[in-house]
Amino acid sequence: MSGALDIAAPLPGAAFGATVRLARPLSREMPEGLPQALADAGGLLLVPGLNEIAERPRLLVEMSHLFGPEVEDYRTLLTRVSMAHETVPEIFMVTNMLPGSRPPPARPEPPLTADGKLPVQYPHRTGWHTDQSYRRPPPDISLFFAVNPVARERGQTIFASGTLAYDALPPALKARVDNLEGLHAQPGSGRGRGDAEAGRTPRPFAPHERSQRQPVARIHPVTGKKALYLCERSQMDWFDGPFVGMEPGPHGDGARLLDELMAHYTRPEFIYVHEWTQGDVLVWDNRCLVHTATWYDAAKEQRMMWRTTVRGNPGAIYAGETRSWVPQEATAA
Ligand SMILES: [Fe+2]
Repeated sequence: MSGALDIAAPLPGAAFGATVRLARPLSREMPEGLPQALADAGGLLLVPGLNEIAERPRLLVEMSHLFGPEVEDYRTLLTRVSMAHETVPEIFMVTNMLPGSRPPPARPEPPLTADGKLPVQYPHRTGWHTDQSYRRPPPDISLFFAVNPVARERGQTIFASGTLAYDALPPALKARVDNLEGLHAQPGSGRGRGDAEAGRTPRPFAPHERSQRQPVARIHPVTGKKALYLCERSQMDWFDGPFVGMEPGPHGDGARLLDELMAHYTRPEFIYVHEWTQGDVLVWDNRCLVHTATWYDAAKEQRMMWRTTVRGNPGAIYAGETRSWVPQEATAA
């Protein structure tokens, strides 16, 4: 029961989110009120002090099951098997501690804003995305556990509230996005903005690799609220998109609208910056938030974070769909 949870809202410095402190260890009691707390907090929860997960990784999977019927098994997601936890394949390791792991993002240029702050707003800050939006149906919720975070003021995760951003859109822009669809592409698939700007020719896609349409104003299946659902440089399709039915490409009308929407989405009043402490679990709702990561010195620092992804309640518009990324299920449509 959420009434039994110790909840402090919003998160420090933000207009959304909440901190939840558990009275008992996870291994003694799974806090069943967390999904309601997540919805009430606008899609972001910090649960600190869960260090026991480091020794008992299955606890993270059990906790994830509170939020939905299916916790993804990374062996079936066509991700590199080396990035999945060796005994718990529902855990994806976000780290620079494994061979072949991806480096942290570059520092923004310039590294600080004119008033000396951490840059958050697009396009000064890039990398904004919602997890796996290039799949239909997309996942609902991600959990991220800090096994070994880096020092403060580096390796942060920054969130923006798509609900607050949508509500604050000028009426004319709201009307414009209400029936619009974005075309989302898998990073590294050759369809990103950099590929289009460089004039590269994208390779043909098999049906299960194709970019996927998603509503720009997405209705949350639990709260009924609309939220902006968008990504930017590497997770939109810049050859046929970024928007369906608008002039495509990195210099078209679609690009101009995307830049305007992402700059609005990431205004400082819609942002939360998380400084990680070992043992933190963050739970975020991909249906109504975007996030991005910040730089750390991968040559000097070792970072190990565990992620799980929960799916199963994407909303009515996805009803009955097969999984777009599974070769046997993808249609040639
Ligand atoms: Fe992510």
